This record gives sequence, C-alpha cells and structure tokens, in this order.
Amino acid sequence: MEEESKGKFSGKIGYVLATAGSAVGLGNIWRFPYMAAKYGGGMFLLVYVLLVITLGFTMVLTETTLGRKTGKSAIDAFGSLAPKAGWIGWIHAVVPCLILPYYSVIGGWVLKYFFSYLTGGGKALASDSAFTAFISSPGEPVLFFAVFIVLTALIVVKGVENGIEKASKVMMPLLVILTVIVAIFSMTRPGAGAGVKYYLVPNFSNFSFQSLLGAMGQMFYSLSISMGILVTYGSYMKKDVPLSSSVKQVIFFDTAIAFLAGLMVIPAVFAFSGGNPEALKKGPSLLFITLPKVFDSMKGIGTFMGALFFLLVFFAAITSSISLFEAVVSILRDKTGFTRKKASVIVLLWSLVIGTLTSLGFGPLASVHLLGFDLLDFFDFITNSVLMPIAAFCTCIFVSKVVGVQAIDKEVECSSPFREKKLYNGFITFLAPFFIIAILVSSVMEGLGFLAF
Ligand code: TRP
Repeated sequence: MEEESKGKFSGKIGYVLATAGSAVGLGNIWRFPYMAAKYGGGMFLLVYVLLVITLGFTMVLTETTLGRKTGKSAIDAFGSLAPKAGWIGWIHAVVPCLILPYYSVIGGWVLKYFFSYLTGGGKALASDSAFTAFISSPGEPVLFFAVFIVLTALIVVKGVENGIEKASKVMMPLLVILTVIVAIFSMTRPGAGAGVKYYLVPNFSNFSFQSLLGAMGQMFYSLSISMGILVTYGSYMKKDVPLSSSVKQVIFFDTAIAFLAGLMVIPAVFAFSGGNPEALKKGPSLLFITLPKVFDSMKGIGTFMGALFFLLVFFAAITSSISLFEAVVSILRDKTGFTRKKASVIVLLWSLVIGTLTSLGFGPLASVHLLGFDLLDFFDFITNSVLMPIAAFCTCIFVSKVVGVQAIDKEVECSSPFREKKLYNGFITFLAPFFIIAILVSSVMEGLGFLAF
C-alpha cells in the first residue's frame, strides 16, 4: 500500500501517544474504579490484568495490524480483505454510535463538577445526597450533557481537534501526576488501609462469571477494542514502526492509569464509609460521590484540587468523545456520501436524543428499565458486555479462517521481530475465541440463574 493522502503518525512515539491519548478517558478514571469496587476489588484487578496481557494484547495487535496492512478504516478493512466479511466492520461501526451518547452524559457530569468547584460550590458536593439530587433533577444534567456533546460536535465540525490535541499533551501528564497525588492522599486517610487491602489482595471467594464478564467488558471499553478506532489508528502507522512493542506500550499506559484511578477511589470508599458493601456497589456514581469527600478533607486546597482535577478529567473525556464522534461521522459519510457538516448534524441529533433519554433515566424516567438495567447501564451492558465480545469473536474467526494468521504475522514482522508469535497464533486461533464465548455464555447462564456460586 503506497502512502495515501491521509496523514501518518511521525513514528513510534507519535503512534503510542495518539493511541494512548484516545484510549485513556472516562473508561480509566470513572468506569474502572467502580467496576473494581463492585466486582470484588483485588480479584477483579487480578482477572483484569491477566485478561489485558493475553486477550487485550491479542486484540489490540490484531486490529492495529489489520489497519496497517490494509491502510483502511474499520468498516472497509474487513471488506477489503474479504468482501463477504464486510459485515464484521458493521458491528464495529454500531458500537461507537451507542457509546457516544452515554459517554457524553458522564462528560456532562464531569463538567458540572468542574463548574461547581470553580464557583465555590465544591463543599456541598461532599454531602451524601448531593450527587443523587443532581442526577435525579430533570434540567441540570441534561443541560450539562448538551453542552458537552455540542462542544464535541463544534470541535469536530470546525476541525480544530489539533488545538485540543496539543492542549491534551500537557493535560494528560498533569492528570497522571494529580491522580498520583490524590491516590497517595486517599490511601493515607484513617481507615483507608482496609480499602488498599481490598483493592490489592485478591479474595477468591469474590470470583463469579459475571465479574469475569465485567472485567472483559471493561478491558474492551478501556482499550477501545472492537470499535474501529484501533484499525483506523493502525492505518496511520508507518511500515517501519515496531508493531508489537508499540502495542505493549499502549496497553501498559492505559492499564497503569486505570490502576491509579482505582487506588484513588477505593481506599477512599473505605475511609469515608468503612467499606460498607452498599457504598462499594454504587456503580456509575462512585467517583462522583467519593472524590468530593476526599477533596473536602484536603481542607484549604480542596476546592482548588477539585477544580483542577475535574478540569483534567474533562480534557481526557473530551479527547475521547471527539474521537468517538469523529468515528461515527466518518462511518456515516463512507456509507452515505453526506458532507462532513450534514453527517455531524445527524450524529449530534442522534446523540442528543439518546443522551437526553439516558440522562433522564436517573430522574423522571427512573422507572424505565430495559433487561432490568437503568438506561445508562443498559447501553453500557449491551455495548461492552455483549456487542464488543461478539465483534471480537468475529475478528478472531476472521483472522484465523479468512485472512490467515500468517498474514498478520508477516505484517508484524515487516517492522520488527515478533517474539510473541507462537503465543499470539495460539491465542487468536483457539484460546481467544473460546474464552470470549465461554465468558459470555457462562455469565448469561449465571445471570439467568442456571449456575450458582
Ligand atoms: N477507551 C476510552 C476510555 O477509556 C473510551 C472509548 C471507547 C473510546 N471507545 C472509544 C475513545 C473510541 C475514543 C474512541 O474512556
């Protein structure tokens, strides 16, 4: 494939920074801590890390390689290698359409918290009822969500992502530093020790197939697997950039930040609620309930730290929502030939409708449940725990049965030796598809009550 008109990353560092920048977002800072708290702390962490170094590495490497090999974005990469397999690209295309709206709802929460700290309202957020009162009100959360998604849309339409990217090169390292500071602070609160233990020491009685499925879904979400993004980023990668070591750096970076976020939130849950199981199972609200208490206990600098922290998280979130929005726009344009503006307006309207419903799901629409989930958890579950594993399963079969594992090996080897080749081949052909299906089926059965632990 000759150089196309589209830009390429300058080299390994360019690729790693851009991919890690897109992968690190709310998934690491908001979603990982609440999943780990809910699904058994250390047990979840152990399962997560094992999954990342096996299945995660395999999937990220596969998608990146498919992109670099074909020079195409997800929806076309599959079809260009085998026209009959083009529909796999479609599953990859549906996922970001469903994630973008609810991702932006959380983005709105972050924005609200930033403004509250900025305007001196941070102290009030530390009370137990503040967050619930906020999300169950009909107006404010929808308003902040709308600001977040409109801002994302404007940035994409105006093509000013570059400015944001430049800013985020400063913001992301700052976010890491601040996360370390907050983590150290929350680990040293009285009573936090039990939380550190809960998070770092696996307790095997906490194992369940649903926690395994949860960890797998979290991994797909956090590494942006099965969403077309990695294929597209791979297509921007030059042929001489070492593939497998770049991929390792990306997944290391992503996992390290999620780990730190857990260290920041979970010990604090113990310090402020004594590890009450109710508090640990708070789900999507955990970050927003716990951190204000941490900032509040920082006394004089709490308001400043809170404002700075939520500003940095906002940057991490908006860079991810831009790349999600961009992905959906380009899928729509490829398939319909719409102008960038028209496609962006459609994506914005779609997100506004679905996002507003999701947001109202915590207030006026609280009685609406799908499959027993509230609306946000429903979209979250359908994408991360159902569609993404299915897409990943199809990708594995596609590689082993259609393109052939050798084709991937060859593409990886054209830039550097592929030391993990044997492992990778075994994984993509047998273990990965088997694991994915086994996890999916056993957790559904457990959910339906056929399996008990
Ligand atoms: N991985 C991102 C996070 O951790 C979320 C995400 C999922 C994403 N899919 C994406 C970001 C696609 C950019 C593009 O928050």
